[in-house]
Amino acid sequence: MAKLTKAEARKHAAAVALLQKDVLTFDERCFVLDNWHEGANHVNGSAGAFFTPSALAQDFAIDAWGGRTIDLCAGIGCLAFHVYWRHRAGHGSDCPEKQIVCIEKNPDYVAVGRKVLPEATWICADVFAFDFSTLGHFGCAIANPPFGSTPRAGQGPRYSGRAFEYHLIDLAADIADNGAFIIPQMSAPFQFSGVQCYRECKSEHYLQFEAQTGVELAAGCGVDCAFHRADWRGVAPSVEIVCADFDTARKARQKPEEIAPAPRPAAPVQGSLFDLVA
Ligand SMILES: C[S@@+](CC[C@H](N)C(=O)[O-])C[C@H]1O[C@@H](n2cnc3c(N)ncnc32)[C@H](O)[C@@H]1O
Repeated sequence: MAKLTKAEARKHAAAVALLQKDVLTFDERCFVLDNWHEGANHVNGSAGAFFTPSALAQDFAIDAWGGRTIDLCAGIGCLAFHVYWRHRAGHGSDCPEKQIVCIEKNPDYVAVGRKVLPEATWICADVFAFDFSTLGHFGCAIANPPFGSTPRAGQGPRYSGRAFEYHLIDLAADIADNGAFIIPQMSAPFQFSGVQCYRECKSEHYLQFEAQTGVELAAGCGVDCAFHRADWRGVAPSVEIVCADFDTARKARQKPEEIAPAPRPAAPVQGSLFDLVA
């Protein structure tokens, strides 16, 4: 278990007291997200369970779009909470992003998540041992998963390396059309956060992931995650937000004869540009 400071322990206890209520106000939910400590009763370090700081989750929500949403490895629902409320505020209560499913394997986190975001459907399960066909297809998958060689009960359908985050994105590619994920900066194909300007930077591990899955990860709208580095609890990770167009990757994986022929380009205009403007 994590060693909490006196201030952290006091705020965690206040969050636990709030959770005794049947229904929490919006402000109380925010208080729980900010102060219920993931390491108070769990060995969260080895489980890779470090919850996203709220301010980063708010920024992340800008990159999470596409319709009905699934949060894989949801913790107590920080990402899902901000995606839900951002879309609801922007598009009203009928927007498809309002339909959110959260999957998390730690039952204590799920119990808190159900109070923080009761609007979501919560499932307590291991994402690598769950039958997603029961849930239908999603417009968007989101996650801040455990990183690197955190133990897993299974793996993605195509990727064969060690990184938890790549296995999870590979899995997400079969259940959603788009994805937005928080992953280690070294697993992203670029550096944007904490550096002067965007730089492409594809490691061998990334190239293996891309070759095996056909999924290309790209930068989102440009959130500098380094800005929030000091806000994590117990760690200060260098991360990036990466986005994926799974629908395009899926079509590219299909056999050529299954893909509708692309429209033929118009015949080139004869003559030179000078003929045209003359
Ligand atoms: C880095 S934390 C992030 C939690 C949350 N997404 C957030 O952003 O605050 C990763 C979460 O994944 C959960 N987890 C780890 N392995 C899992 C698995 N195989 N299936 C489902 N959840 C898992 C952990 O319990 C932890 O809550």
